[in-house]
Amino acid sequence: MSISRFAFAAETASTPVDLLRQRYGSDQPASTAEWNTALEAILSHRSVRTYLSKPVPESVLHLIVAAAQSAPTSSGLQAWSVVAVEAPNGGKSLPNSPPPIRRSSRHPLFLVWIADLSRLRKITTEQGKTGEGFDYLESFLLATLAAQNALVALESLGLGTCYIGGIRNHPAEVGELLGLPPEALAVFGMTVGYPDPAVGTEVKPRLPQSLVLHREQYQAAPPEADLATYDDTMRPFQTGQGMAVPGWTSVVVSRIADAPALKGRHVLLDVVRRMGFKVK
Ligand SMILES: Cc1cc2nc3c(=O)[nH]c(=O)nc-3n(C[C@H](O)[C@H](O)[C@H](O)COP(=O)(O)O)c2cc1C
Repeated sequence: MSISRFAFAAETASTPVDLLRQRYGSDQPASTAEWNTALEAILSHRSVRTYLSKPVPESVLHLIVAAAQSAPTSSGLQAWSVVAVEAPNGGKSLPNSPPPIRRSSRHPLFLVWIADLSRLRKITTEQGKTGEGFDYLESFLLATLAAQNALVALESLGLGTCYIGGIRNHPAEVGELLGLPPEALAVFGMTVGYPDPAVGTEVKPRLPQSLVLHREQYQAAPPEADLATYDDTMRPFQTGQGMAVPGWTSVVVSRIADAPALKGRHVLLDVVRRMGFKVK
């Protein structure tokens, strides 16, 4: 079934079957025989970009940090931190903020997720060790797992979120603004707030499972027709969002066309090394 059969605007799927259809814009082999509220929250995800000015309660902040800390963490290292930046009345989130933060400032809470080796480095340095084991890319993954746990927890409480990768366009400026120590990098921001019910936010369909689920070994030649079907699924969604780009594959091509298309993130590794990370 094509996604064009579904009304996107502000529609809230009510049954597990509806939620799955909405997620793919078509029927998929997933069964709803096993179902619970955790799955309902996860499958209902959509990024929210318009919020009410209602503040996020302090109790919620502590609860979702606990959810973030419950994420798995390699060797128990917990190499991440989060900076909570509040912008009362939906105003500017940070004084003198660089464009990526200011552009997304209409939200009650902005969480900045930090890949944080500084705490671990201090511990090892105090014991006379180099801490060379931190110098690997793996250290950057842990903030991601924590942030996504927090996102799921926030959405389960009826709050909306949106990752803001743009802060990586200006890692040094963001680091300075937030007073980050050496070897602490803002990996991404996350806007948080109560969704404005006047602005419908739709679930964005994902690739069919035939393109992402491999069995026993990677299938090098996925069914091409399924990619074309996904393009067909995305076209009405994109049009509904006011996007002129037809289909998903053309978005992919334009997003990764060349290094400048990354808007500064193509020099991220150099900048991160200048900030003190060794990254091997
Ligand atoms: C690491 C990361 C960075 C992102 N950065 C931005 C951003 O800077 N601005 C924005 O509007 N959305 C951003 N997003 C949200 C994506 O655009 C969104 O997740 C994607 O289009 C899928 O839509 P959905 O989250 O509603 O399912 C980001 C998402 C991720 C995971």
